[in-house]
Amino acid sequence: MSYTTLLVDVDDHGIATVTINRPDKLNALNADVIDDLDAFFSRAETDATIKGVILTGSGQKSFVAGADIARFRELDGESGRIFADRGQAVFNRIENMPKPVIAAVNGFALGGGSELALACHIRIAADNAVFGQPEVNLGILPGYGGTQRLPRLVGLGIATELILTGAMIKADRAFEIGLANLVVPASELMEATGKMMTTILAKAPIAVELSLKALRVSDEPLAKGLDVEADLFGQACDTEDFKEGVEAFLGKRKASFTGR
Ligand code: COA
Repeated sequence: MSYTTLLVDVDDHGIATVTINRPDKLNALNADVIDDLDAFFSRAETDATIKGVILTGSGQKSFVAGADIARFRELDGESGRIFADRGQAVFNRIENMPKPVIAAVNGFALGGGSELALACHIRIAADNAVFGQPEVNLGILPGYGGTQRLPRLVGLGIATELILTGAMIKADRAFEIGLANLVVPASELMEATGKMMTTILAKAPIAVELSLKALRVSDEPLAKGLDVEADLFGQACDTEDFKEGVEAFLGKRKASFTGR
């Protein structure tokens, strides 16, 4: 499958590297990018050759510098609502992926770019990364999930500060507040991201998938989340990989998981 705005490379280990490819516009999200992301992630959900996804931006300067502001002239109340609904649906698809998705943030992650990184399961930042929600400068607010996912990740106080001031923060600050999981030199970004993905893919695949599922309800009331966790724990106990993991530990050998 080919895409007009994405470069997709799947390696021998099933790691798909997806590069948003509009470098002349700092990889801003226009309707084509949103459609391509939707098409790619909808395929990746069920494509057994894809085990995990690394999302990044083309060039050295930018992950994604936001939604495409050139489109904003057309927006009014009605079309703005549709615009936000569409982006949110695609970002929900990314967040709900049953396979790990890591953002390799290689520069500006602003507005919709920050929100895209927030929809990924893990964020690794290059030391030149800049995060921010500058929507207030344009007379709008984040519409692709920023007001909801940012406070869940960094807490309400810091999220409120970032969204109301539109401040751009550097990678080290993003790490301090828990927005970035890790900061690495820009030249090592893809290697470090690949390494973390490889670590995850060496684990029992069903355990990873069920963990993602349980983590997704971590903002639900505790009793509900615990109930989901216990249910998923039971499901994991029914897998061959569970038996293999336990036997391997007790037999002092390396586990060999099959994803069953
Ligand atoms: N939408 C559309 N085009 C964008 C864009 C966006 N979000 N961000 C950058 N671009 C375009 C610029 O218009 C410019 O295009 P041009 O060369 O045809 O004029 C090109 O990308 C390069 O950007 P430029 O502004 O020249 O780079 P810079 O290094 O001077 O500044 C930024 C970089 C990221 C600080 C600046 O581009 C910026 O503030 N972008 C908008 C960020 C934003 O508000 N995002 C949230 C949107 S809701």
